Amino acid sequence: MRKLLNCLSRAAGLAALAAVLGLPALAVAQTVAPADPPPGFVAPAEPQPGETNAQRALTQPGNNAPLWRAVRDSGTQPGTVNLEGGELGTLVQPFVRYPGSDYTTAGEAWRQVRNDWIIPYGGSLLLVMLVAVTLMYFTVGPIGGHVPDTGRKVERFTPFERSAHGLNAAAFVVLVVSGLVMAFGKFLLLPVLGATLFGWLTYALKTVHNFVGPLFAVTLIVMIVTFVRDNMPRAGDLAWLKSFGGVFGNHQVPSHRFNAGEKVVFWSGVFLLGLLATVSGIFLNQIVPGMSNTRGQMQVAQMVHGAATALMMAVFVLHIYLGTIGAKGALNGMVTGYCDEGWAQEHHELWLKDIKSGKIPAQRSGAAPPDGADAQPRAT
Ligand code: HEM
Repeated sequence: MRKLLNCLSRAAGLAALAAVLGLPALAVAQTVAPADPPPGFVAPAEPQPGETNAQRALTQPGNNAPLWRAVRDSGTQPGTVNLEGGELGTLVQPFVRYPGSDYTTAGEAWRQVRNDWIIPYGGSLLLVMLVAVTLMYFTVGPIGGHVPDTGRKVERFTPFERSAHGLNAAAFVVLVVSGLVMAFGKFLLLPVLGATLFGWLTYALKTVHNFVGPLFAVTLIVMIVTFVRDNMPRAGDLAWLKSFGGVFGNHQVPSHRFNAGEKVVFWSGVFLLGLLATVSGIFLNQIVPGMSNTRGQMQVAQMVHGAATALMMAVFVLHIYLGTIGAKGALNGMVTGYCDEGWAQEHHELWLKDIKSGKIPAQRSGAAPPDGADAQPRAT
């Protein structure tokens, strides 16, 4: 077509020139002649309604448009493709537009959302959070440590709470490592390990991911049920949030058993994102009997899973930082079950007050405090 337009415009230009120079029109006609189609050229035929592939092959050899049109519209003709449920006979999925994708076939739209959004932005978010906590560590340093230890212990977490948290955290770490290899290994590990080793590693980690996922799901539910009560919003939480609890200063804003920052992590990271990641993951695992798993549903579940887990990892980078090297003495409470009264005074003043006044028992389980320390805080 472009060739034809070129020839026409060249011919028009030459005609004008010929007119100016007074040359006969024939000269122009001779110049245009090479635009004639070459011998054997067959002009493209317009698609005819109901045209078969064989008919199209006569007018346009190699053009299989009628075949693919029939394939795309074949959802109403069961039996041609052996996929389950509502997908019987549908080889190419219908057109959709997922958030961030073009209007195209669902498989391609899913690919665009995954490769153009979830992978690059999820990976960047994780890196940003890792850089942020590293900067926090080297500039602000670990928080707390302003109130000296008293030697008297209060029970922070019962053995049941610690077991649930430990199992859940271990499962989370395994899922994060295997999930990151599945999502980013192609870019980071494949060039180093080579296709064979990387293929086996990813297959093994994908299997581990599938088995550890349900353990995470069960322990997550236990965690939500166990900790929901002490994460309910209370008076004073807003004041805590406004000054970020004063955690970077010498005196923290008084809080109950969990401060408002921990409550934000609980409701956003554990409850909302945790449940979204778990429900979508169980759907992708295909372990619920009788549930249909069409490609369209799996694509939506995969996008939800990818986005929720990317955000969740970002939230938990902060939680794990503050639970280990970012806050002095925090890990001790989770590992031994007990914290020093001094630590409770500094980080959770209102909680300690309730313990001392007898509102909350100082010891909720039969577990002894570490090193035989005094577990009964003195009444003040
Ligand atoms: C290796 C990873 C993890 C470490 C080192 C860690 C560490 C800690 C520590 C030290 C505490 C006690 C904080 C305090 O005394 O106030 C804690 C509390 C808690 N952690 Fe983790 N954690 C990890 C992973 C997780 C995961 C994966 C989840 C859930 C998906 C989780 C949910 C919680 C909850 C719900 C609490 C109770 C405090 C609250 O409700 O805000 N943790 N964690």
